[in-house]
Amino acid sequence: MQQLTNKRIILGITGGIAAYKSAEVVRLLKKSGADVRVVMTNGAKEFITPLTLQALSGNPVHHTLLNPEAEAGMGHIELAKWADVILVAPASANFIARLTQGLGDDLLTTLCLASEATLAIAPAMNQAMWHNETTQYNLQRLQDLKGRKLHIFGPADGQQACGDVGPGRMLEPELLTQSLANLFDRGMLAGVRVTITAGPTREAIDPVRYISNHSSGKMGYALAQAAIDAGAHVTLISGPVTIKAPSRVHLVNVSSARDMLEAALQQTPECDIFIAAAAVADYRPMTVANQKIKKSGDTIEMTLVKNPDIVATVAQHEQRPFTIGFAAETQDIDTYARSKLARKQLDLIIANDVSRQDIGFNSDNNAVTVYWPDGQQDFADRSKNALAHDLIELIAQRYHNPPHTV
Ligand code: PMT
Repeated sequence: MQQLTNKRIILGITGGIAAYKSAEVVRLLKKSGADVRVVMTNGAKEFITPLTLQALSGNPVHHTLLNPEAEAGMGHIELAKWADVILVAPASANFIARLTQGLGDDLLTTLCLASEATLAIAPAMNQAMWHNETTQYNLQRLQDLKGRKLHIFGPADGQQACGDVGPGRMLEPELLTQSLANLFDRGMLAGVRVTITAGPTREAIDPVRYISNHSSGKMGYALAQAAIDAGAHVTLISGPVTIKAPSRVHLVNVSSARDMLEAALQQTPECDIFIAAAAVADYRPMTVANQKIKKSGDTIEMTLVKNPDIVATVAQHEQRPFTIGFAAETQDIDTYARSKLARKQLDLIIANDVSRQDIGFNSDNNAVTVYWPDGQQDFADRSKNALAHDLIELIAQRYHNPPHTV
């Protein structure tokens, strides 16, 4: 169920015998690649222990609204904003009634009130309680709510724990997980492993000085976020920058070009798409002084040696991923970009005009032309975030439809 990869799910558990099945729901969600936080009502804790759910979800279980310790960790508003979806399974008749009333008298109902995430409930109760007209009235009211993304999964019909037969059984965990997955469109890069290099490299001269450039990392980091939004598993190999990495990436911090190459080669066999957005220093000082170089004459000479070409090395790897480079050019963009595309044996190259001050290095906007062996596409000025989403769409199209099928 790749639709659930990277999805942030709050699983709310209320008091009912079906709560024992929630452990299996957590296991299946985790297996699908989701990040799961469990929220329990007091009633739920009578049926299943928080410890079981903590062990299965790999996260602390939340159960109290006014707990200073829990609020100091991930507070309830933060948790409400964190979620992509809230699934309440089992949802008791009592919980459904409180939800319908808009009550916020415990953590779970408060989260449902405070969150803008999609809400799904899996009712589970005795068949008479299910048939009760108040329950049916509440469910109808919930379904009529405008503006709320609310889904009701089940219940199933059959033998109940109390011996009755009829509707009120919680859907089986497999069906519940599948129903939840169906709420999400399959991302363009669902389950695809993407590695992105970003930022500058630093090439040491002595213990206090280095050669570097103006790359801020914004373009590469925006691509990482866009790839995550498309469902990919993302590794971000970053040179030194001051911006914050998206929360769902595997971040590998590096400094020099050679560090970046080592990290890239480690990822290469595990990666489907490699995007080189980093501004790698082409040369480094041949020797690095052990001590700070003292000021002496009016001039100083330094021999520089060529750094390894990271993206070209990845493109020539025997387990070659779909490989994309950037080209930062100040003139003859078309000619230089096409020549880099061929020389580095890339699938795509994204060329930006870095002679312009308002785009490219360290700005919030960019404009690029993407080249591939038999085509090209222009992307006029827009924010790096918007551009990243457009580029990921194009990359996904070309990755899924290699040249001979396009
Ligand atoms: O980080 P920002 O401030 O947001 O700015 C974004 C950017 C301008 C840095 C980015 O959009 C960009 O153009 N990155 C590539 C910069 C660059 O080094 O271009 P290049 O034409 O010198 O290199 C061509 C390609 O080879 C690039 O993919 C580069 O990552 C790669 N390369 C270069 C040298 C080297 N030793 N190893 C490499 O992998």
